[in-house]
Amino acid sequence: MPESIVTIERHIIDQERQFPDATGAFSSILYDLALAGKLISREVRKAGLVDIIGKTGGTNVHGETVKKLDVFAHDVIYKALDHCGHLCVMASEEAEDVLPIPDQFHTGNYVLLYDPLDGSSNIDVNVTVGTIFSIHRKVSEGERGTIEDCLQPGFRQIAAGYVVYGSSTMLVYTTGHGVHGFTLDPSIGEFLLSHPNIRMPEPGKRIYSVNEGNEGRWSNQQKRLIRHLKGLDGGKTKSFSGRYIGSMVADIHRTLMYGGLFMYPADRKSPRGKLRLLYECSPMAMIVNEAGGRAIDGTRDILSISPESLHERSPLYIGSKEYVDLAERILSEEVDGDVAA
Ligand code: AHG
Ligand code: MN
Ligand code: MN
Repeated sequence: MPESIVTIERHIIDQERQFPDATGAFSSILYDLALAGKLISREVRKAGLVDIIGKTGGTNVHGETVKKLDVFAHDVIYKALDHCGHLCVMASEEAEDVLPIPDQFHTGNYVLLYDPLDGSSNIDVNVTVGTIFSIHRKVSEGERGTIEDCLQPGFRQIAAGYVVYGSSTMLVYTTGHGVHGFTLDPSIGEFLLSHPNIRMPEPGKRIYSVNEGNEGRWSNQQKRLIRHLKGLDGGKTKSFSGRYIGSMVADIHRTLMYGGLFMYPADRKSPRGKLRLLYECSPMAMIVNEAGGRAIDGTRDILSISPESLHERSPLYIGSKEYVDLAERILSEEVDGDVAA
């Protein structure tokens, strides 16, 4: 039996108590996100039994096939938070433009950016998927938020988190005061504190995580980095193991807990990589940095990048500091001629 049983609500209130000027607004947002996570978890758990898997027949702004669970998760988060009175605007991977707060509801001083369902391609085959969220403060003048409130660099986030629908459903979040993990007990519908103050192990496990199917389109430096991690360049380093789930939330949750290096590099087809800066790379970068790791786009700190558009992409190297440092060094070196695959 743990020393004490702490629900996410209790944890948020305890965290809030540390800030005398805290208004409770932020706690209310996190509470509503936890509620949305429970509702999405329930649908993910029964996907396959009800008509919730499969395609909607539509495509999103990225030209990607939209799955029914993508739409369900998008709607659940929007409807769980549109009336909370603490948000001035939202933005979702599944919506081309910003999502205004309905006129009949009060607005507040926070901004929510989210990837409602991450790893959609894995839904129909029962592989772990997730939800990612990022919270900023309002910066625009008017009462109702605008795109300006959404296009903020990652270092200005006041909170970031994800829900991972895996062998158990976990919610992991940080407000810059530690990274905390809660496991959903479905029998009582509560997220219970199971991983207080998550720190990435140093040295982290020697695990690298990348879609090697893209190798033919990588730069020579990227090819050289992977050969180095595999111990194929005659270096003295012990080789790494490869692990790739194809759901960013799952791959990064493993990286957070075990250490390692997750990459989604740029390539000739996707010169800015595939992952979206605002609601995938930035929130994960805040979490990993807070747990002692690092996140770059190959040269720049992810959290320093000022976004120009809502759905802009960024290459991503994230994980144990020593491995991200290694990637940064190898990617910066000139390579003579082509690197054999
Ligand atoms: P989403 O389902 O939100 O579009 O995200 C999918 C992303 C991310 O979860 C994962 O790391 C990446 O796509 C996998 O892409 P590849 O299939 O190209 O490897
Ligand atoms: Mn995603
Ligand atoms: Mn998604």
